[in-house]
Amino acid sequence: MKIIPIMSAAMTDHEADCATPVTEDAVCGAAIDGDRPWHDIGLYDSVFGAQDCHGTTLEGIKVGVFRVAGDLFALDDICTHGAALLSDGFLEGHEVECPLHAGLVDVRTGKPCSSPITRAARCHDVRVEDGRIYVRINP
Ligand code: FES
Repeated sequence: MKIIPIMSAAMTDHEADCATPVTEDAVCGAAIDGDRPWHDIGLYDSVFGAQDCHGTTLEGIKVGVFRVAGDLFALDDICTHGAALLSDGFLEGHEVECPLHAGLVDVRTGKPCSSPITRAARCHDVRVEDGRIYVRINP
């Protein structure tokens, strides 16, 4: 997995949560943290193709990356309610439906939108650069 350094001054303008969508050649996420690497998860077109949900494993953590109207969001992929991957779920608007018990999660914030999910999923930083998607794991 290719690791790239933090490199964009534009990142200083970003909000401290993951609610800010990212688009092609934009950056998003928390304040600059030079200790946490960005992970290259692949070419934008290869990662998504016709799908809007993508699951991967980074630093031993299952991460789901979701595309909504061209904007990308990343969060812990394992549902906080049980052992299911949100990236295997159904995405409608900004809500992904867990495939196991149909709980809804807002991919912008990781917050649950319906029962039985009660705990928020951790969000991660995601950006697109030169046609490739990069994800940075948040603590
Ligand atoms: S495992 Fe996701 S809603 Fe139950």
